Amino acid sequence: SKTYKIAVIPGDGIGPETVGAALEVLEVLQRILGTFKLDYEHLDWSSDRYFAQGKYLPDDWMEVLKPKDAIFFGAVGHPKVPDHISLWELLLPIRQRFQQYANVRPSRMIKGVKSPLANCKPEDLDWVIVRENTEGEYAGQGGRTHISQDWEIGTELAIFSRYAIRRIFHFAFQVAEKRPRKLLTFVTKSNAQRSGMVLWDEVAYEVAKEYPHVTMDKMLVDAMTTRMVFKPASLDTIVATNLHADILSDLAASIAGSIGIAPASSIDPTRKYPSTFESVHGSAPDIAGQGIANPIATMWAAVEMLEWIGEHDAARIWMEAIEEVCAAGTTTPDLGGTENTAGVTEAVKQIIEKRATAKSS
Ligand code: NAD
Ligand code: IPM
Ligand code: MN
Repeated sequence: SKTYKIAVIPGDGIGPETVGAALEVLEVLQRILGTFKLDYEHLDWSSDRYFAQGKYLPDDWMEVLKPKDAIFFGAVGHPKVPDHISLWELLLPIRQRFQQYANVRPSRMIKGVKSPLANCKPEDLDWVIVRENTEGEYAGQGGRTHISQDWEIGTELAIFSRYAIRRIFHFAFQVAEKRPRKLLTFVTKSNAQRSGMVLWDEVAYEVAKEYPHVTMDKMLVDAMTTRMVFKPASLDTIVATNLHADILSDLAASIAGSIGIAPASSIDPTRKYPSTFESVHGSAPDIAGQGIANPIATMWAAVEMLEWIGEHDAARIWMEAIEEVCAAGTTTPDLGGTENTAGVTEAVKQIIEKRATAKSS
């Protein structure tokens, strides 16, 4: 049996609740399948650590994470810490320093989960949003200054490099190429933003020449929100900048039923560095500690992690169990159900156990 080294960072708020739920299922899968083992390093990198020690990450965080096969991440964000501090001291350095340049955010309608859109049937929605994850509006460049005695200005400089645009387009085309519809929609705002966004447009058409079997179309980000709502079936793979895709992915998750089910993989496709598997949602302080967080986003992220390390059977079994639980209506309140985190987790575990018993007898 194979062993994989996994860094576990539950983080803040509902992070430890949903990560804890996923770890329970991972125990069951390892026991039942007997084909792989996860060697965890549990890391307390969180706001609590910041309160106690003044830092989210230890100085040697890169050395700690570098040898891992994957990073399993909950969420970060605490009501008592400004968000730009918690994010820039924990999540964003990992994405950027480890060149996890593709953030992959699939959305599809799971059976039993209802879209808030009356017109959206299950077969209408099967998207993958590919988010540029290292630069753009998240470059962290800018500053605050006074241009006159009382006019303070803040600049937030978005940086778009040809290098990073090219690599995210290649990645997105390769995702689109593997999907049945082979359709890639790229999103920019090149009408208002005339430098970086126009460079995105140019690179899009350049890279497209290398993927003749993929159909590409272009959207401005404002019109894209309308298309997602009114013509969900017209979309397949979507590629967008760091900020645009951040916003579009919350919208996508909501159209697919809830932000509580949406996974995100921050991937270094070169595998030089480990990739991070996380949820689209955050630490949800409004429901933290109540035991009602939907664990499915984090579970689905763990399914993606299993796919990434090559444990495809475990991934498939888990995803099928998630779908069965949703189809049965065993869901948390965000999906209209009355179960809590533990109830959903128990149901997922039982389905996996039951299938294993049925198979072996
Ligand atoms: P959020 O995603 O945490 O929550 C938005 C809304 O969705 C809330 O009403 C919340 O209760 C609900 N929700 C989120 N996840 C849910 C789940 N699993 N089950 C049920 N309901 C769920 O976004 P926010 O409120 O804007 O941010 C809260 C904190 O999280 C902030 O500090 C923010 O910076 C941080 N954040 C972190 C990440 C991350 O770590 N990946 C992502 C987004 C936001
Ligand atoms: C996400 C989050 C983060 C992001 C925040 C918390 C910095 O919203 O993963 O979608 O914008 O990348
Ligand atoms: Mn987000």
